[in-house]
Amino acid sequence: MTYHYHSDSLSRTEKLARHLALLAPPGTVIALNGTLGAGKTAFSRAFAEALGVDENAVSSPTYSLIQHYLGDQMIHHLDLYRIESPEELYELGIEELLEGKAISLVEWSNKYPEVLPQDYLEINIESLGDSERRILLQPTGKRSCDLLERLSQDLPDDLIPENKYT
Ligand SMILES: Nc1ncnc2c1ncn2[C@@H]1O[C@H](COP(=O)(O)OP(=O)(O)OP(=O)(O)O)[C@@H](O)[C@H]1O
Ligand SMILES: [Mg+2]
Repeated sequence: MTYHYHSDSLSRTEKLARHLALLAPPGTVIALNGTLGAGKTAFSRAFAEALGVDENAVSSPTYSLIQHYLGDQMIHHLDLYRIESPEELYELGIEELLEGKAISLVEWSNKYPEVLPQDYLEINIESLGDSERRILLQPTGKRSCDLLERLSQDLPDDLIPENKYT
């Protein structure tokens, strides 16, 4: 099932990210997509902060490609925007990273969907204006489905099922 969340401010997007962070089990992979400036890094920052990471430690990994934060859980934060081929990612050992016990946040994963594991939570942030965002959450397997199910119980009024029959 797909859910959507309407965000009218940065703080509302951060609220979603914090809730998700507190529910995400080790090994969760979150694919963050959406146009430039949609809020993928802002989401990642609030997510990491909720797990005890200093918000100043979380910057956009556009140039560094990957950053690691240690909070209550280990977090890998990746940005595939500037990657030129999937081989670069395989050399980096991305498959092992995404299969490990850390939580992974992958910005621009849709550039190289083939490097993602089978089961991940897809989050697509669509910009509707200066501060309006439509955030789509879509699971791809049992684990991400369970996570989304728990999130929907935690955010009952904010998270709206997109289509009950998909
Ligand atoms: N509702 C909202 N949710 C998230 N961010 C918002 C919202 N309204 C305004 N913003 C602003 O949008 C910007 C999002 O920037 P951010 O770097 O997170 O985007 P990004 O998706 O990571 O971009 P890039 O593709 O360059 O990595 C921030 O300046 C943030 O304050
Ligand atoms: Mg970013």
